[in-house]
Amino acid sequence: MVDLDDLKEIGEIDKGGILGLCIKTWALYEEALSFSYEVELPSYMESSGGYPHGRELRKVVVAGMGGSAIGGCLFRDMLRDEVGVPVEVVGGYTLPAYLDEETLVFVVSYSGNTEEALCSFVNAVRKRCLVCTVTSGGQLASFSKRLNMPFVKVPGGLPPRVALPYLFTPLPVILERIGLISSIKEELEESIQVLRRLAEELAPEVPLRDNLAKSSAQTIAGTTPVVFGPYYYSSVAYRLKTQFNENSKTLSFWGVFPEMNHNEVMGWERTGPLHKLISIILLRDRDEAPYIKERIEITKRLVFEKASNVIELYSSGQSKIARMLSLVFLGDLISVYLALVRGIDPTPVRTIEQMKKELRGKYDLLSKLEAEIRSMEKRRR
Ligand code: F6R
Repeated sequence: MVDLDDLKEIGEIDKGGILGLCIKTWALYEEALSFSYEVELPSYMESSGGYPHGRELRKVVVAGMGGSAIGGCLFRDMLRDEVGVPVEVVGGYTLPAYLDEETLVFVVSYSGNTEEALCSFVNAVRKRCLVCTVTSGGQLASFSKRLNMPFVKVPGGLPPRVALPYLFTPLPVILERIGLISSIKEELEESIQVLRRLAEELAPEVPLRDNLAKSSAQTIAGTTPVVFGPYYYSSVAYRLKTQFNENSKTLSFWGVFPEMNHNEVMGWERTGPLHKLISIILLRDRDEAPYIKERIEITKRLVFEKASNVIELYSSGQSKIARMLSLVFLGDLISVYLALVRGIDPTPVRTIEQMKKELRGKYDLLSKLEAEIRSMEKRRR
């Protein structure tokens, strides 16, 4: 195993420099907060109090894949107690039948070239939804400009999963600007302060014995991490599972309380030797409701005792947004340190790229979308 306190060695392994980028997550949120309030929205979105073109907004949907979808999942979980309309995240080529003129659809793709996101964009326009895109460029930026759709242009050049602050922040801010939620600026500002403080505690210069992210990574190394959180943190648990996949290049699984108490616990009864290869990561909160806290404690005693080890990660901060983003940040760093302790460069995602390359050109989806955009353009003239 690599010594995580050997800064020279971990610097050599981390060729893409993802550790430094992750530590600076707070700065990306700061930047994203200011551009999200400044981005130009059409007057019908900005001033109408949620009634663009006289239509009431009754649903919000975020369409995207992978690192571009997770911001939508966090947004959905954070706002579940605040926004009075359903918020759903969809990934894939088609959109649900319920989408209509009263639906606000955010299409998010960091590269702007993900075919599923481009299909969602065209489908959403076809269904006459109110569409807003979030992208660093690519075809999605071009389609948005050609159809005169509002779009948030975010800075490019990062791995999409690192660009989470750019892809997440515009969603709640635009909802606030439309008038669907009350101000969330203070909560986002608190989150930035919390992440800034955590960045100091978890920095590469802080030795393993005092560094929760490094010590957790070292404990997990050699096992398969399985993440559980309460249902309202499902997006955080899922984010951590995907970060283990993409950064640490390891299999990982996830689940939520209380659902796992109704099925998955049975799978632990007869695992054979498998349970000894599993690290349990529990996402915790100091203000858990008693019915969640008790479940977690009982599950630890009845089930997780069999695992190789159990790591409990507590959120920091006051607001729900800060608490969720603090756990995301801590998890991101654990996944990066886990790659490094295993001697793996966290940045490249070769198999994802190979998949996209092999699919490209297999069917003429993009030319069909291009033809459809052209005819939409003509109709709008
Ligand atoms: C994350 C990552 C993938 C992409 C996904 C979609 O770092 O590489 O999960 O986010 O393949 O691509 P984009 O984000 O460009 O739409």
